[in-house]
Amino acid sequence: MWEKLFQDLDFFPTQASTMAWDVDALYLFLVALTAFFTILIIAVMAFIAIRFKRRSEDETPKGVHGSVLLEIVWSAVPFVVTMGLFGWGAYVFFKFSRPPSNAMDVHVVGKQWMWKLQHPDGKREINQLHVPINQPVRLIITSEDVLHSFFVPAFRVKKDAVPGRYTTAWFEATKLGEYHLFCAEYCGNEHSKMIGSVVVMTPDDYDEWLREDAQGGYETPAASGERLFSELRCDTCHNNLEGGNGPSLAGLYGSPVSLNGGSAVADESYIRESILDPKQKIVSGFGPIMPTFQGQISEEQVFELIAYIKTLEVR
Ligand code: CUA
Repeated sequence: MWEKLFQDLDFFPTQASTMAWDVDALYLFLVALTAFFTILIIAVMAFIAIRFKRRSEDETPKGVHGSVLLEIVWSAVPFVVTMGLFGWGAYVFFKFSRPPSNAMDVHVVGKQWMWKLQHPDGKREINQLHVPINQPVRLIITSEDVLHSFFVPAFRVKKDAVPGRYTTAWFEATKLGEYHLFCAEYCGNEHSKMIGSVVVMTPDDYDEWLREDAQGGYETPAASGERLFSELRCDTCHNNLEGGNGPSLAGLYGSPVSLNGGSAVADESYIRESILDPKQKIVSGFGPIMPTFQGQISEEQVFELIAYIKTLEVR
């Protein structure tokens, strides 16, 4: 009932993703809680001011020496309320942080002043993102220059694009239509023009859209990555051979790696760092001999190499 009522009130952007109500419910509760205590405090203040006002010039008030009961109540009540809010907030946060396993990966690069996006099949877009309805979409976000923030109010999705790092966000659109896409982090002169839209389509329309003006299809990120991998001569060392100069990359993605002095999980960020700053983490049993590719390849090309490395399986 509350959800329906809330949708009818035009206070907030349309709720167009599975996450929207989670965020709004928590937000509404916070507003209601704040309103409740504001009114309560003002009412009690007014009551006390009238009830205990000084009645004559020489009246001296009775000393109050504390109340254990009152102390317990006003400690316990806020504790329970704030811990409840913490638990609820954490639940929403974790839900937002963990994309479902069937999510489709979209690569997002922010730059002054545009959003560059790439679909799993290789199709690229600028300042517009087409997605199928009822399909979880995982965004892997980075920036080419300064901080940006990928913000789709209708989905209640906002995530910073941080240079030198990958951040992820996910959403599942639940309503067909076109929604605003903003940059929500001041990023220079034309920050306010760094806007676009997200178009939610039926799966059929989306497939058709993917195919239109695709003469001969697109090259998937993994295929571009494979080409790059040999152009950059990565395969000289990472050749999966016994005694190779670099560790084998087969089955690397998502698996734990033992390092000189520690260990890591080979996620996107780990692989990115290993390409651009290879001396940060050295796999045990290997020397720090890999050259950096910093400045030689673009963020998109790093995505492509990662996409290719993800496809390498142990044979
Ligand atoms: Cu990019 Cu503001």
